[in-house]
Amino acid sequence: MICLGIEGTAEKTGVGIVDSDGNILALAGKQLFPKIGGIHPREASEHHAKWIPKLIIEACTKANLELKDIDLVSFSKGPGLGPALRTVATASRTLALSLNKPIIGVNHCIAHVEIGKLDTGAIDPVSLYVSGGNSQIIAYEYGRYRIFGETLDIAIGNCLDQFGRETNLGHPGGPIVEELAKDGKYIDLPYSVKGMDLSFSGLLTASIREYQKNIAIEDICYSLQETAFSMLVEVTERALAHTKKDEVMLCGGVAANKRLREMLAIMAEEHYAEFHIPKMEYCGDNGAMIALLGILTYNIYGPDKLEDTNVIQRFRTDEVDVPWVHTSKN
Ligand code: ATP
Ligand code: FE2
Repeated sequence: MICLGIEGTAEKTGVGIVDSDGNILALAGKQLFPKIGGIHPREASEHHAKWIPKLIIEACTKANLELKDIDLVSFSKGPGLGPALRTVATASRTLALSLNKPIIGVNHCIAHVEIGKLDTGAIDPVSLYVSGGNSQIIAYEYGRYRIFGETLDIAIGNCLDQFGRETNLGHPGGPIVEELAKDGKYIDLPYSVKGMDLSFSGLLTASIREYQKNIAIEDICYSLQETAFSMLVEVTERALAHTKKDEVMLCGGVAANKRLREMLAIMAEEHYAEFHIPKMEYCGDNGAMIALLGILTYNIYGPDKLEDTNVIQRFRTDEVDVPWVHTSKN
């Protein structure tokens, strides 16, 4: 079976093609870079509308396939920005109907974990999924991917990006903050772990306030990273200790950050756990992860009815039964 997956929960449009043996046959994507400010949901949806048809052709060409060779159309059902999700769902329905092929909608966060496992060979990891829109600590337990910790307000990537915008560093802030942090020293910033959950908005406000006080930007960047990443590593460590798993996986766009990689690797080593990071093309949003999860889900449940292909803006990771997962321990 060959599945074409369409991703577009935020500002990146992605199309991927995967077969039922888990071979990734093609990956095509196009990111929207807003000229000013952050991501506008309408602009994101217009970006998807413009690029989805072109990326479908590009992916088919890369995979050396024709549209009629596609057996299944999969799309990201959520979580994400409403207008962006609806454009992706509409495009996916149109494609499936025009090809007379089945359609299936899947959870974006689970797709990140599944493609990460496929790419790295991880079997049953505690995953830290960190991006512009999400910050979750995810692990499989009792038939579902459970959220062991998550942000209560903004995602870590959003925190870094908003800091970049407010301090005129540019967008996206993540890589710029990482670069500046190399020359910084530590200043005190609020560390906010509440139970197993995280909060980044107070840290963001405090960091902007330090900037307004003319504290060296390098010091703020360094301290922002050290504080935020320590919070993420602490909760991941506690999830690892609780679940007694022996693998840790880092995914999402913020996985590009070398300091976060280093901190998580040290923690994993201290727990004798294997540490995995998928290749960057599979860390960020991509269509292959949606195609892969489409196949895994279709194999068990078959296709969605067309009337069930609605989008779910706040689609939670732990809402989905995942009977296809087999851990090494069961
Ligand atoms: P999602 O829909 O999963 O929330 P996204 O639209 O945010 O994804 P991604 O490519 O997964 O897209 O992640 C982008 C985020 O990653 C941005 O917030 C960006 O600042 C951050 N990022 C990219 N490179 C780095 C880096 N080197 N250090 C820290 N953050 C980074
Ligand atoms: Fe994502």
